[in-house]
Amino acid sequence: MTGVNAKPLVRALSGETLARPPWWLMRQAGRYLPEYRAVRARARDFLELCLTPSLAAELTLQPLRRFHMDAAILFSDILLLPHAFGQKLVYHEGEGPRLDAIEDCSGLAWPDPAAAIARLEPVFAAIRRIAAMLDGDTALIGFAGAPWTVAAYMVEGGGSRDFRRVKTRAYQDPPAFGALIDLLVEGTIAFLMAQIEAGAEAVQLFDSWAGVLPEPAFARWVIGPTRRIVAAVKSRFPLCPVIGFPRGAGVLYERYVAETGIDAVALDTAVPTGYARARLQPYVVVQGNLDPVLLLAGGEPLAAAVGEIRQALGGGPYVFNLGHGVLPETPPENVAMLADLLARPLGEE
Ligand code: CP3
Repeated sequence: MTGVNAKPLVRALSGETLARPPWWLMRQAGRYLPEYRAVRARARDFLELCLTPSLAAELTLQPLRRFHMDAAILFSDILLLPHAFGQKLVYHEGEGPRLDAIEDCSGLAWPDPAAAIARLEPVFAAIRRIAAMLDGDTALIGFAGAPWTVAAYMVEGGGSRDFRRVKTRAYQDPPAFGALIDLLVEGTIAFLMAQIEAGAEAVQLFDSWAGVLPEPAFARWVIGPTRRIVAAVKSRFPLCPVIGFPRGAGVLYERYVAETGIDAVALDTAVPTGYARARLQPYVVVQGNLDPVLLLAGGEPLAAAVGEIRQALGGGPYVFNLGHGVLPETPPENVAMLADLLARPLGEE
């Protein structure tokens, strides 16, 4: 990045308090949009969407045409990193991702992280394309999964109810599990740096399963790896904001904020806004945290919740978002209503 980036999202993520807080939504592209479903129906599979630059760019821009968010988030997925490392990955329609589960963390022959990242060249081509198409007020967000969450998918072979396989591995043989985490730290650093080089103006680390670990394991597998990634990215791109999303971390949000070096923290739906204002916002920019189900429900409850959250957090550096991704059943009209509320300065919704 050269010079100062004056886009509202980047200003807010850099610590400015804006009269109209900027906004974007996790999963703002996706199945709730008919135009997404139309593109998806013509593609072979989800990976083809992510790895075809023209399609990834089109899907990234679809929600902006309707709702004019302050940021585009690259259309991609956190599991592209294990895919680049050679782990077999398939997305079955309506079922979620499936990977060939890793049996033994120590005995794997992984490619060099830089070589693996080179396989994701279509992702960087998509970013260059999107960056060239955005107007001067709309920022582009890149992202990656945080190592703990990506390792969880790699070891479980997909989603999980209790994460017993990956936790057992982490508890029984920390050095072997640590080798997998180290590989993911290196890969994530290279992946995020290449996204920023291609044109991403901020990056978010999704740690969707941070909340399933007790404190010592949280410190070791969530905070430690995140701190290493943030330090490396910041050493090369000191002005590029890094957002961390330790979903479900509860009271450990405070340690996460104090120890990782992130610029902004994404709050999940369960974080009380009063707590966030008092205990987190003095130290970092906060982002969040409307319940995605309120966006699905719409109407007066949605308007009231948006007003309350902006009231509680808008007095300091703040980016409006959901507490988790847009649900596929969400009526696009509700997102239009949200956009309308958020276009007004604070206190006037
Ligand atoms: O936010 C955005 O609009 C950008 C795109 C994006 C996707 N996935 C697209 C996607 C982002 C930022 C992600 C992150 C992601 N992917 C996370 C972290 C955030 C979270 O939700 O906790 C995780 C855990 C994944 C892994 C993943 N990918 C799962 C569990 C699933 C299945 C669930 C589902 O909604 O189908 C996916 C598939 C996926 N990633 C879809 C999209 C649009 C749906 C694909 C389809 O069937 O069309």
